[in-house]
Amino acid sequence: MAQILSLIIAIFLALASSGRCSSVYSRKDFPRALLSWEGAANEDGRKPSVWDTFVHSRNQSNGDIACDGYHKYKEDVQLMVETGLNAFRFSISWSRLIPNGRGHVNPKGLQFYKNFIQQLVNHGIEPHVTLYHDDHPQYLEDEYGGWLNRRMIKDFTAYADVCFREFGNNVKFWTTINEANVFSTGGYNDGSTPPGRCSPPGCSSGNSSTEPYIVGHNLLLAHASVSRLYKQKYKDIQGALQEKKVLT
Ligand SMILES: *[C@@H]1O[C@H](CO)[C@@H](O)[C@H](O)[C@H]1NC(C)=O
Ligand SMILES: *[C@@H]1O[C@H](CO)[C@@H](O)[C@H](O)[C@H]1NC(C)=O
Repeated sequence: MAQILSLIIAIFLALASSGRCSSVYSRKDFPRALLSWEGAANEDGRKPSVWDTFVHSRNQSNGDIACDGYHKYKEDVQLMVETGLNAFRFSISWSRLIPNGRGHVNPKGLQFYKNFIQQLVNHGIEPHVTLYHDDHPQYLEDEYGGWLNRRMIKDFTAYADVCFREFGNNVKFWTTINEANVFSTGGYNDGSTPPGRCSPPGCSSGNSSTEPYIVGHNLLLAHASVSRLYKQKYKDIQGALQEKKVLT
């Protein structure tokens, strides 16, 4: 999170220097749903992620519009150029690309990421792409309990396969899972982050003694599965420059 925060703060500073935001910043100026840059949460076939459900159920600031990067990505890339950035880290919204978590690929979601990545590359900005940042499709949470279920490993690997196949010619830096330890404890030990589970009465459902470990284990297996897929199917033809650790 610290990494993405500093990067996004850099972007906000860039916006500020163009006169679009106020001039003094602190963490509290940024919404809880800061990790969403793109907004357009309900547009063009995207379905909710557990993050959307979580913030809406708690009446917290949400990512419905966020920085509206989905519509303003060309402007944003221009601001990055003016700021002198040479890299941009962002995550792909699984439920924009594959709204139900597996199966049907949303053509408009696919086109958005292709356009955005191409725009970055055309301007000499290296895309650093994270596949998962606390935001799996709500559909999978409802269907089988998300990361508590080993079925996630197969679905996450199939999603990663689409990302590598479609974007890998332009993306040489991939992160599988953002801060797996933070997600396991926040989401399943104290319930402070999606999907907001912990032992009652702190949360309506969950088990803080067992679930963080089950989820952590499944995240590690998912990371292993996706990195194996990359090495076997894509590394020779796409040649990512660096393999990142699952725990940061
Ligand atoms: C949600 O938050 C807004 C803004 O803080 C507040 O005006 C509203 O009353 C809240 N709604 C609920 C249901 O808590
Ligand atoms: C959590 O699971 C363990 C092992 O199954 C069980 O002993 C414990 O009572 C559960 N705790 C809650 C709060 O459900």
